Amino acid sequence: MELEYRSECAGVDWARVAEILRRVGMAHHAPEVHRAAFEASYATVFVYDGDVLAGFGRAISDGAYQAAIYDCAVLPECQGRGAGRRIVEALLARVGHCNVILYAAPGKEGFYERLGFRRMRTGMARFVNADALRERGFTD
Ligand SMILES: CC(C)(COP(=O)(O)OP(=O)(O)OC[C@H]1O[C@@H](n2cnc3c(N)ncnc32)[C@H](O)[C@@H]1OP(=O)(O)O)[C@@H](O)C(=O)NCCC(=O)NCCS
Repeated sequence: MELEYRSECAGVDWARVAEILRRVGMAHHAPEVHRAAFEASYATVFVYDGDVLAGFGRAISDGAYQAAIYDCAVLPECQGRGAGRRIVEALLARVGHCNVILYAAPGKEGFYERLGFRRMRTGMARFVNADALRERGFTD
């Protein structure tokens, strides 16, 4: 079945958002926390396989010249069908006039390089779970 792409947060199953993030090994929170994060974002994209949420991504931005992409994830059984690319392209359609930053999960750098992103030499982060992220290879 063809995947469908929507931008609205209305009707999203936020428990499934947490579940998908958990399944792909990304940070996940209580459903209402994801709802708050997505609803406060500048741009959101949700991928549906039929009626079932299969992936998503979001960008925060000032709308003028700076933006950041977070929470790009596609269910393992739907990966490799172009959904990840479509998610990022849909977000870039909204924030492509800005500088766009993100941090890739270790091993996913090539995915973003294909979409025009380049490694930053001076990127710095102050993570809440700093020890865990260091262990997972995000920081020195
Ligand atoms: C990263 C992720 C979103 C990619 O989604 P996807 O739907 O499988 O990606 P697509 O099918 O759209 O692939 C787009 C392109 O990237 C390439 N690609 C996908 N994963 C890649 C990787 N890990 N390294 C290099 N290239 C990759 C594909 O081959 C494809 O190339 P093409 O356009 O030249 O054919 C998905 O694998 C995922 O959710 N992973 C787990 C969560 C995660 O790590 N998210 C990123 C957090 S920063």
